[in-house]
Amino acid sequence: MNSTAEILLNRRTIRKYTPEIIDDDLLNELLKAAMRSSTTGNMQVYSIVVTKDPAMKERLAPLHFNQKMITEAPVVLTFCADFNRFSKWCELRNANPGYDNFLSFFTAAIDAIIAAQTFCIAAESHGLGICYLGTTTYMAHGIIEVLGLPSGVVPITTVTAGWPAEKPVQQERLPLDAVVHTEVYSYFSDKEIVEFFAEKEGREDSQKFIEENDKQTLAQVFTDIRYKKEDNVHFSKTFLQVLKDQGFMNQ
Ligand SMILES: Cc1cc2nc3c(=O)[nH]c(=O)nc-3n(C[C@H](O)[C@H](O)[C@H](O)COP(=O)(O)O)c2cc1C
Repeated sequence: MNSTAEILLNRRTIRKYTPEIIDDDLLNELLKAAMRSSTTGNMQVYSIVVTKDPAMKERLAPLHFNQKMITEAPVVLTFCADFNRFSKWCELRNANPGYDNFLSFFTAAIDAIIAAQTFCIAAESHGLGICYLGTTTYMAHGIIEVLGLPSGVVPITTVTAGWPAEKPVQQERLPLDAVVHTEVYSYFSDKEIVEFFAEKEGREDSQKFIEENDKQTLAQVFTDIRYKKEDNVHFSKTFLQVLKDQGFMNQ
């Protein structure tokens, strides 16, 4: 087996999977590894919903904008912030849970994301491929309905997992200096910012993106097409409503 560092440095998102299933023993081992993650106060304020049933995947697919990984991956995992279980335990033990607020949601969301990432590393260390789906937060209402999530539970992110049927080229990353600050935050000059993004801009696929979308710069592909303000505002509103509906905004 490769070293952990090799696995981490060579990884890439996998969006195409073979039809082979993930054996239950292996899946349980990966889930146990995810549950070994650090968790706030050892409260484990998250849940993982495992979807393998093709009929359930069909119901989830439109909520993930029909990204084909949902129906093609053998396993789909929805990682949820979850204060339901812990609050119920408090009530059963004569303790008054104070977790119906934004801070508690954020705490639980952090727990969920850390568990998700541990699952991904464990899966990749076994040669599996994974893909995160950010559509979870966009379509949280629908996902809550399909998965039957109760009050105090909010879907945070989805991971599809399966045996890779592709080996895509690795995506670039910004230089270390762009991301890592020593002791205090570094304020970058315009020239430095442009240099940081030069590799990303220079890639063949970036140039293709610009042409296909009839834009002048790669940044415009992000601001005008992929992550545009009107969508961000719309999905912010719907997600805030989800937090209210699931009982997290009662402060
Ligand atoms: C929170 C999150 C949401 C993502 N959502 C999607 C998604 O909806 N669809 C998709 O194909 N990839 C998605 N990705 C994968 C990213 O596109 C991918 O990680 C990024 O392009 C870098 O590629 P790499 O992981 O191969 O290095 C997501 C990744 C993260 C962390």
